[in-house]
Amino acid sequence: MNNFSFFNPVQIHFGKQQIAKLAQIIPPHARVLLTYGGGFIKNNGIYEQVTNALAHHEIYEFGGIESNPQYDTLIKARDLAREKEITFLLAVGGGSVIDGTKFIAASIKQPNDPWDILAKNEKINSVVPFGSVLTLPATGSEMNSFSVITRGEEKLGFGGDPRLFPKFSILDPEVTYSLPEKQLGNGIVDAFIHVLEQYLTNDINTPLQDRFAEGILLTLIDEAPKVIELKDDYDSRANFMWAATNALNGLIGAGTVHDWATHMIGHELTALHGIDHARTLALVLPSLLRFQKDHKNQKLLQYAHNVWGIKASTPEETIENAITATEDFFNSVGVPTRLKAYNIGEAEIEKIVAAVSKHHPYGLSEHRNLKSQEIQSILKAAI
Ligand code: NZQ
Ligand code: ZN
Repeated sequence: MNNFSFFNPVQIHFGKQQIAKLAQIIPPHARVLLTYGGGFIKNNGIYEQVTNALAHHEIYEFGGIESNPQYDTLIKARDLAREKEITFLLAVGGGSVIDGTKFIAASIKQPNDPWDILAKNEKINSVVPFGSVLTLPATGSEMNSFSVITRGEEKLGFGGDPRLFPKFSILDPEVTYSLPEKQLGNGIVDAFIHVLEQYLTNDINTPLQDRFAEGILLTLIDEAPKVIELKDDYDSRANFMWAATNALNGLIGAGTVHDWATHMIGHELTALHGIDHARTLALVLPSLLRFQKDHKNQKLLQYAHNVWGIKASTPEETIENAITATEDFFNSVGVPTRLKAYNIGEAEIEKIVAAVSKHHPYGLSEHRNLKSQEIQSILKAAI
């Protein structure tokens, strides 16, 4: 096992009616900025629950944070937060609103151009405290310190600073009932691939982390059909929500070898073609696994046996069957696994490869063996 330091200070309030707790968990004299996205929260009762809970707080609001939160919008929110002398931010939404709120929180007191936090990894001066009400199980942003922000064709991440963890996150599975099928499929696939990026790597004897990982994968596989078919089934939504949070809160990846190449290639597909985050991952992962099957041989076999119960006559066949089972699973929740579903062909691939190489000149994957040529092969095989 590799050395690691593990720290996760996020207080989770999980279950029905937990939004009412906001009244107690946000400091009483805080000047609160409520941040949200395109406005679904005003149609399904969440906005009402939040504002009722905060009836005795001083609250301001900023709506309109886009999916793949846009830098220019977040700067407007930062300006409002400065003007109103905000002392606490409350994100109500999915990964985009929570990620965007992390960036607002980090830029309020930043003396220099906040873009440098993303583009130049500049040190953050101070972070205004924030919490979240999660509405879309997927990214894990509610219990980690990472954030991904978009500006034009640049989609860049920052994080890892302990001040960037939410103070708390409220996870009420009932708020997911209003999610459209497309976002449910996205959430299942994103969480699944977060696990695989930390599990399908080198086997360095981490049985506990592997069993955590396999437990999350098996839970997602078991719950997915109920999540998609039953619109208000509390138990399956609760299991899905907690699985997605645990997929990227640091625990399963502590001491393991990480990959993240699928995510880095996926971010460029979103930046250049506007494809939803999870959908980009489903396009890249199967092809990447086939390309890396020798490097990932041992873990792919373990994945085939322990997650899919597959044992074919040869190891090669076992691995191929496990990758096919993964594709079938993504397709079963409505997420395509081929670039042609988005009309992306050879002509588009060059620009995607150039963007990945610009942002990751030293090569991707746990072996850093994926450079321009290899990424091109992976994407061509995904057409
Ligand atoms: O715009 P609103 O009104 O908020 O509607 C959203 C949005 O249209 C809607 N939605 C959310 N909860 C809902 C709902 N609609 C009905 N009922 C509900 N309960 O869903 C749409 C998508 O929301 P979004 O927040 O964009 O999706 P997601 O949670 O998948 O977040 C994607 C972003 O997170 C980043 C991605 O790159 C992308 O920018 N990620 C963040 C990570 C992190 N912080 O650790 C890791 C991930 O790998 C990922 O990169
Ligand atoms: Zn992701």
